[in-house]
Amino acid sequence: MISAKSGDPSESGKSDVEPPLGLLAELTHRCPLRCPYCSNPLELEKRDTELSTDEWRRVLSEAAGLGVLQVHLSGGEPTRRPDLANLVEHCRGVGLYSNLITAGVAFAAGLLERLAEAGLDHVQLSVQAPEPALNDLVTGRPGSLGEKLSTAQAVRDLDLPLTINFVVHRLTIERLPRMIELAVDLGARRLEVAHAQYHGWALENRQALIPTRDQVMAAVDIVDRARESYRGRLVIDSVVPDYYARYPKPCMGGWARNSLNITPSGRALPCHAAETIPGVEFPSVRSEDLKSIWYGSPLFQMYRGVDWLPDRCRGCDRREIDWGGCRCQALAITGNAGETDPACEKSPWHDELLSIAQRESTASTEFLYRSFSR
Ligand code: SF4
Ligand code: FES
Repeated sequence: MISAKSGDPSESGKSDVEPPLGLLAELTHRCPLRCPYCSNPLELEKRDTELSTDEWRRVLSEAAGLGVLQVHLSGGEPTRRPDLANLVEHCRGVGLYSNLITAGVAFAAGLLERLAEAGLDHVQLSVQAPEPALNDLVTGRPGSLGEKLSTAQAVRDLDLPLTINFVVHRLTIERLPRMIELAVDLGARRLEVAHAQYHGWALENRQALIPTRDQVMAAVDIVDRARESYRGRLVIDSVVPDYYARYPKPCMGGWARNSLNITPSGRALPCHAAETIPGVEFPSVRSEDLKSIWYGSPLFQMYRGVDWLPDRCRGCDRREIDWGGCRCQALAITGNAGETDPACEKSPWHDELLSIAQRESTASTEFLYRSFSR
């Protein structure tokens, strides 16, 4: 049984739980692309279950009241929502920094201009590969690189800060040098080199995506050298993926420590894959306010802090660095979300994670695409 000890400062006068700084608002699961590395759930939420404009506005106000500083407007593809400019304007009105996370394709005429006028602060644009054929293969959408490059140019013309997000996997990781040049040419301030995370649909495609160790180590070298060459012009974020690492990363900065996700239908989650955890009740912003969810919901307290840690983590001096790593990865590999993350070399499952990577990194590269019928 999960204890529901409340950290709400309004109840105790003092709390050991900090308010969240970031909110990932998954406005819709609808998307014009079909990327095989998509970490959204296998069962996508339908359009008619999505939160309304008024519900999102209320949630954004509650987030600002709770202490959130940044909202990431995401999906799916958030530009599928006709009320996006309205929501951006609301973010600005309640003092939230807004970041649009977009695939940058099939934009309605004038949309970016309307978003900029509404007060959008930042754009994060995904580019799947620096060459058209490979970009099309990954996205499943012909001509998508050209659309993305036009969007990047429009973002720069509006003087909005631009981050390029490049998800790397076995088919694209060797295109990293060209991708770095492209990010510089596009005037991006930041490049995120994100290794595919094997949750949701991506787990179905893991054997087509997972890179070899040699590919990963070469990429680490390329990033190190590029950081040096482009110092002051481009910030490059990149980390070694879990399956070739010695230690886990603090997934989401630690469970319910500084950010939360809201799904299109209003479920509040500590991370994007939390719905894979069985036997748990997921709170909804439709029936509870964000503050009581953050401080009082059993789901958010389940793996918060260090009290829940398995024995081998409790005595470890990294416990407040990685906060036990990723619960959803522990679940996917060991069947138990409360286990030590297998990315950790102290986990009895660590060799299993490595052997999955070694075995699958030489398997077929045929993608399983999702189909969006809604
Ligand atoms: Fe992190 Fe636990 Fe491994 Fe220590 S034993 S490095 S706390 S996962
Ligand atoms: Fe859920 Fe890492 S994705 S804890």
